[in-house]
Amino acid sequence: MRRAGVLLAAALLAWASAAPRPAAAQDIEAGRAKAQACAACHGADGNAVSADFPSLAGQTWRYLYVQLRDFKEGRRSNPLMSPMAAALSRDDMINIANFYAAQPLKPAAFAVDEAKARLGKAKADETLCTMCHLGGLLGQNEIPRLAGQNYSYLVAQLQAFKARTRTNDAGTMTSVAQTLSADDIDNLGHYLAGLR
Ligand code: HEC
Ligand code: HEC
Repeated sequence: MRRAGVLLAAALLAWASAAPRPAAAQDIEAGRAKAQACAACHGADGNAVSADFPSLAGQTWRYLYVQLRDFKEGRRSNPLMSPMAAALSRDDMINIANFYAAQPLKPAAFAVDEAKARLGKAKADETLCTMCHLGGLLGQNEIPRLAGQNYSYLVAQLQAFKARTRTNDAGTMTSVAQTLSADDIDNLGHYLAGLR
């Protein structure tokens, strides 16, 4: 009996420290209020107002949280975004990340060049993007959803990984990006932006 209690306590402790926090309704509601400061660029519901900004709707909460932490701690930097993250506490980040993760992504209208998208898909298959980003490029945990993300933003990030101006990826994306030419990046942008 006593042993079972100890085991249960140990299991709960392991769960509390290792498991991702489930999206709680109160996180989402608190996040909705705090995310008003972000609407000018990312849209009120996380669907960005311009293709230069990433949409956050439908992104994995864990990835959003990690990026906010990285901006705040200087591992990722951008003149528009870094000051926004600097003001957020850990709880703010968890609330906001859960709010955006729960919003439906409404991909922006983008004129996909079908020939480029086909080449982009071939490159994605060859490079095994889905090994990490999952089937349909829908993302998981700390690996972002790419499907339906804005073309200009996707291209800028792949270029930044390739040039090593974005380095908060523990080496995964900076090494993948070295294998991509400028044409590959353009083709991948057409393919990914067109996915639903
Ligand atoms: C003035 C415009 C602006 C505002 C306001 C803004 N952001 Fe951003 N945000 C950006 C830009 C630009 C980027 C892309 C930065 C880059 O290229 O690295 C970005 C990136 C992000 C990312 C990373 C997304 C990804 O796919 O990697 C997150 C998360 C984020 N912003 C959250 C927020 C939150 C939360 C707020 C409000 C507290 C906010 N942003 C306010 C401009 C803005
Ligand atoms: C070995 C695992 C792995 C592979 C393979 C991989 N990625 Fe990634 N990718 C990641 C991780 C992890 C991140 C998040 C990095 C971070 O936290 O900054 C990421 C981030 C990205 C981002 C940034 C998205 C955003 O919202 O800012 C893009 C774009 C991207 N990957 C595209 C690709 C493409 C295209 C391929 C195939 C050509 C690919 N990735 C292959 C692991 C991988």
